[in-house]
Amino acid sequence: MVGKNMNICIVGVGYVGLVTGVSLSEVGHKVYCVDTDENKIKLLNTSECPIYEKDLGLLLKKNIKRKMIEFSTNHKNCFELAEVIVIAIGTPENCDGSANLEFLNSVVVQIAENVKKDVLVVLKSTVPVGTSDNVEKLINKNLKYNVKIEVASNPEFLAQGTAVSDTFNAARIVIGVNSVGSEKILRKMYEPFNRPIVVTDRKSAEMIKYASNDFLALKISFMNDIANLCEIVGANIEDVAVGMSYDERIGSKFLKAGVGYGGSCFPKDTKALRWLACDHNYELKTVKAAIEVNEKQKMKLVMKATEVIGCFRNKKIAILGVTYKPGTDDIREAPSIPNITYLLENGANLHIYDPVGLENIIKLFGDKIKCTNIMEHAIKDAELVFIFTEWEEITKLSFEQYKKLMKTPIIFDGRNCYNKESADQFNVQYYSIGR
Ligand code: UDX
Repeated sequence: MVGKNMNICIVGVGYVGLVTGVSLSEVGHKVYCVDTDENKIKLLNTSECPIYEKDLGLLLKKNIKRKMIEFSTNHKNCFELAEVIVIAIGTPENCDGSANLEFLNSVVVQIAENVKKDVLVVLKSTVPVGTSDNVEKLINKNLKYNVKIEVASNPEFLAQGTAVSDTFNAARIVIGVNSVGSEKILRKMYEPFNRPIVVTDRKSAEMIKYASNDFLALKISFMNDIANLCEIVGANIEDVAVGMSYDERIGSKFLKAGVGYGGSCFPKDTKALRWLACDHNYELKTVKAAIEVNEKQKMKLVMKATEVIGCFRNKKIAILGVTYKPGTDDIREAPSIPNITYLLENGANLHIYDPVGLENIIKLFGDKIKCTNIMEHAIKDAELVFIFTEWEEITKLSFEQYKKLMKTPIIFDGRNCYNKESADQFNVQYYSIGR
């Protein structure tokens, strides 16, 4: 792919920054990535990818080799070279659910103090509505040189595990600008991707990000709510979802009931929007409901197991899957975490399998859990299995294998991985969600 070359600086080489930087270099822009984390920059300079993300490693190596992307800890150099500075700094959650903008603001001041030519600053981090305006004020207050710095909002919609293809096949690119000049620069930057571009004012662009994520979270919580009702009245949520999906107004995606949503976005962004509304004396009832349903849903399976089993003390229990979804090693806000905590508190002897998430779960629970990357080892002689992530290798396991390996074949499946009817055939006690 050949693009109209631009010099772009990416500040913050976290998940979003790295995927964005690598993708922009792949389409022909010259990308300078900067981060304060020296170890990460060192690793990237050896062409090693610090995160587990499909296709990212290959594109990273390729573009480092052809010198289209560079990594450094030197902010000043990178700022000097750039026509566009993309900020992809983390905005972690404060205790009250609001977004913490401390890191973002310190980067903004650095930009204002160091930039010596006109530049467009692009906010890619998920930020509260109104942040672009505040960033612009902060820049103007701290400007050192006689330059014009404009600010634009350009939220990302990447899902982990498919982030690279999400970038190249984006449903839309949203740009929030307050000048024709900024729009022109961003259109040029994204031209090689040839995707639909939605242009709005900056506040609307910021809101599009939250509204999109929170709508999807609400869709999942709605299905989980209906799933719980299905269990009570004897309906089957899987069939209900199929029946609903034929209606194009509803669509077929994000109708999967389970043990709730996790990850770095939905939990954080729902809380942040609820907080923003609250801060403006408005109660966002729908988002509040999405959060409440999800909190309860996360413990649904273990509560069900408590009713069936009674006591977990000294029982060998296998946990299959700990990441918040397949295709990532990320366990942030994963439903597996409160469940593992609960089972440990109740004296269970936990044997955990996950193809890529073990390192992260060990960081949390240490030697309180036993971990293995061989699924059969976790299941062998177990009295109970819990499934929290629908990894392909887990969904491929047959009831026959469970029967052969387990001491007592009882499965609590939080992701509806198997056909419920065939469990009876193999005399496996099988519990899932909403059916
Ligand atoms: C999400 C958005 O999809 C993405 O656009 C945004 O930029 C960041 O947040 P991500 O968190 O990577 O991406 O994963 P996603 O695939 O959306 O799944 C989020 C959570 O919802 C997972 O825990 C998943 O298991 C759960 N989920 C998803 C369901 O429970 N049911 C569904 O039908 C879909």
